[in-house]
Amino acid sequence: MGSSDRRLSVTLIDVQPGKEDEFLALAIRFEALLIRKEYGRAETIRDEARPQRFYAVRHWSDVDAAERCHRDPEVQALTAQLHQMAGVTHVVNGVRRADTKARLLAEERRGRVGADRRSGFDRRQPSGGRREGERRVVERRLGPRRLRDRGGDDPVDLVAAARRARENADAAFSHFKVGAALEGADGSVITGCNIENATYGLTICAERVAMFKALSDGHRAFARIAIVADTESPTPPCGACRQILWEFGGNLEIHLANLTALKGVHQLKDLLPLPFDARLL
Ligand code: THU
Repeated sequence: MGSSDRRLSVTLIDVQPGKEDEFLALAIRFEALLIRKEYGRAETIRDEARPQRFYAVRHWSDVDAAERCHRDPEVQALTAQLHQMAGVTHVVNGVRRADTKARLLAEERRGRVGADRRSGFDRRQPSGGRREGERRVVERRLGPRRLRDRGGDDPVDLVAAARRARENADAAFSHFKVGAALEGADGSVITGCNIENATYGLTICAERVAMFKALSDGHRAFARIAIVADTESPTPPCGACRQILWEFGGNLEIHLANLTALKGVHQLKDLLPLPFDARLL
């Protein structure tokens, strides 16, 4: 087996009843992690006949990437969480031969487009299919800004994107400008800034602008958000934003930064313990 051979695995996952939303949030984080660390890509497919059953398909870039992925403590932590809520059966562990570099590049490009067209997971989708009045799962579309594609294979600099977005803030009343950049599970970056108005109360924060922009463009799966303000202590999202980020983004990774440095990375579940969401309705 050559080092450029691509590895593929398919795993059958039977999620415990009631744990589906938690599992889907975890799957989205896993998919985003594989892309961010350039190990490869993954997709999670729900069995239409058995709502508790999922197939996790993982494509590693090459054999080294697969091994680095398995050794990665962040991957191991996610996998351990997964094992607590599901039965996991490995179905296929395979190798796909890579003939030429050109073919690899073509596959990679196809993979990215495929990932963009795949349906997103709606966290609020109940396991038993769709009843009247419930939201449908919306097709994920190409995002408005794909920094990963513009800069070759450089990882997304989410904080830089949030700093640029902050320059557009309309903060005529507070003079407190905030920028946010949300990363979709497919690597898209959607930005937002705070917009104030004369009634004060209708002000909207950078984070919610970013999230609503993303949702209105069809994105449904998110990995991280960066939030930037020009302050020494980091600016965490307000309570209203925490709620919206949780409901639409799940347990996001939150990167807080100012104009010169990254000040901290948090998990949304730690900023919003005991959350209220659609599971409780
Ligand atoms: N603001 C945000 O945009 N995001 C935050 O995380 C905190 C606060 C905005 C709202 C308002 O325009 C200004 O900052 C002052 O509160």
